[in-house]
Amino acid sequence: MKLGELIRATERRLRAARLHYGHGTDNPHDEAAFLVLRGLGLAFDTDLERPADPDAVEPLVRKRIHDRVPAAYLLNEAWLAGVPFYVDRRVIVPRSHIAELLAQGLRPRLRGPVRRILDLCTGSGCLAVLAARAFPLALVDASELSTAALAVARRNVSKHGMEKRVHLVRSDLFDSLKGNRYDVILTNPPYVSSSAMRRLPAEYRHEPGLALAAGRDGLDLVSRIVVEAPKHLSRSGLLVCEVGDGRRTVEKAYPRTELAWPKDEVFIAGRDALASAARTAASPRTRSRPARASR
Ligand SMILES: C[S@@+](CC[C@H](N)C(=O)[O-])C[C@H]1O[C@@H](n2cnc3c(N)ncnc32)[C@H](O)[C@@H]1O
Repeated sequence: MKLGELIRATERRLRAARLHYGHGTDNPHDEAAFLVLRGLGLAFDTDLERPADPDAVEPLVRKRIHDRVPAAYLLNEAWLAGVPFYVDRRVIVPRSHIAELLAQGLRPRLRGPVRRILDLCTGSGCLAVLAARAFPLALVDASELSTAALAVARRNVSKHGMEKRVHLVRSDLFDSLKGNRYDVILTNPPYVSSSAMRRLPAEYRHEPGLALAAGRDGLDLVSRIVVEAPKHLSRSGLLVCEVGDGRRTVEKAYPRTELAWPKDEVFIAGRDALASAARTAASPRTRSRPARASR
């Protein structure tokens, strides 16, 4: 069988299985190409006329269809902004919208030089690595609560030769970062509300719950970040925070705060705006933190 035929045959099977996409690809054709090409260890631009052995990818295709495992976990590989990362089930599959903003150098929002960056809730370390690439003169702290996730991040930092510029820290949000200030704080924190958690497609259930679940309205982590970020931003520093489909909830929680939305899923705010948000936030938003288990 030719490679192109194998991809098309796989696509038909994925389509018939009515899978959910969103972990690196958003359609059955791209998912089939990813599974087949990378399952065979081939580059994305391989000649589709060359022969391919269907048996070599059959176990992967079956697991994708029958167990609904995201392809990235089956291949231990995910691509974000054209950059490959090692992944396994200790971290979510990289798909943050912040990657696109980093590719644009965070322009036009950025006002000063970027020397220090924090990637809060770093997971696989993907955004920390992309930030270090986007800002070659900056040092990046990448913090994370889960020691298991930090092991994956360490692997990615080393894969991209960033050991000297990306510093990994175990921290419950800002707890281990006292006294540090940053020009940019990036964060793609857990933001899935309890009701959305109950409706998640099977694929997402292979991802760590700690990376997704964020309480009744999805703002458990975001509200802590908004309160604490001003103490960790330089004068012209920016918080870049992903909230998924939580924009309306955020705008309702901080009605008087100047938030820019370069994408519907991501807001950017300066230090002063956040400081006023922290002061005026309704009391439930400043509630004491829920206990969370470490992994
Ligand atoms: C949505 S994932 C994002 C991972 C990565 N930044 C990305 O974009 O793919 C959120 C991450 O936050 C971590 N996390 C959850 N609660 C945390 C906390 N209280 N402090 C620090 N990290 C936390 C999770 O373990 C998970 O790796």
